[in-house]
Amino acid sequence: MTQIRTGPDDAASAATAMTNPVPAQTAALRLSTIANVATTSVDHLRGDLRCQSERMTDDVRDAYDAVVEPYVALNRDALDRVPTDRDCLASFAQLAAHGDRPIADLGCGPVHVVDHLSELGLTMVGYDISLGMLAQARRAFPHLRFDVGDLEALDVADASLGGIVARYSLIHVPPARLASVFDEWLRLLEPGAPVLVAFFAASAAEAHGSPFDHLVATAYELFPATIATQLEDAGFTIVEIVMRDAHPGERPLAHATLLAITTGL
Ligand SMILES: C[S@@+](CC[C@H](N)C(=O)[O-])C[C@H]1O[C@@H](n2cnc3c(N)ncnc32)[C@H](O)[C@@H]1O
Repeated sequence: MTQIRTGPDDAASAATAMTNPVPAQTAALRLSTIANVATTSVDHLRGDLRCQSERMTDDVRDAYDAVVEPYVALNRDALDRVPTDRDCLASFAQLAAHGDRPIADLGCGPVHVVDHLSELGLTMVGYDISLGMLAQARRAFPHLRFDVGDLEALDVADASLGGIVARYSLIHVPPARLASVFDEWLRLLEPGAPVLVAFFAASAAEAHGSPFDHLVATAYELFPATIATQLEDAGFTIVEIVMRDAHPGERPLAHATLLAITTGL
């Protein structure tokens, strides 16, 4: 396990990575290039891009609906196998303990993390786009709260959440959209609320946002330094970045967990 802070080298590689085009960025660039030609056709293209994004989210939802049982079987004891993850969740729980608003697990999947954080004393709500995952969660944990919700557009009031956890759900969001996801999260959170995000970390040889061979749905490796910068730009302060290598049996990618807090505590 390595605990790192973002430094100048990370910032430089992040800056380089952010200039590497990914498909959605390319589409956005094309949109801005023709913006001064005809506004109506730009609006039309923006509509197409939005439809494309919605289709991608539908694809992710359908893909997870199709693998609920094997996913649950593989992940039932996931937190027992990875003590580092439990440590990160314990740090998150300490930061979240001061508030009385609910904590959202966005992309909660089969809900073992919602259960774990509830056991640590937090008032949790699990959100997911997969109805299959939520049905399974309701059967296994009838005493816990879950709801349908998209991590990019959660239907809750401003400053109504006491914290956000998003473990391995951001990996399915096209990287060009992540900065606006963090802006949106800031709106949902009370001042001083913590955020924990976990994802597969791209190595220096890769580009931020490279797709990898995720077995369920299209997913992207991310630079921890780029995510840290985007969180800071949105108004969060980074508390900790924890890196770990793949364990035996896991896909050979590093894992990153970032803990951040909304400015204003
Ligand atoms: C790799 S699983 C991770 C599940 C759980 N967080 C964990 O740590 O095991 C990704 C989950 O995120 C959900 N998901 C993907 N995109 C989402 C979105 N835009 N909004 C909400 N949930 C999403 C999927 O349905 C799936 O349940």
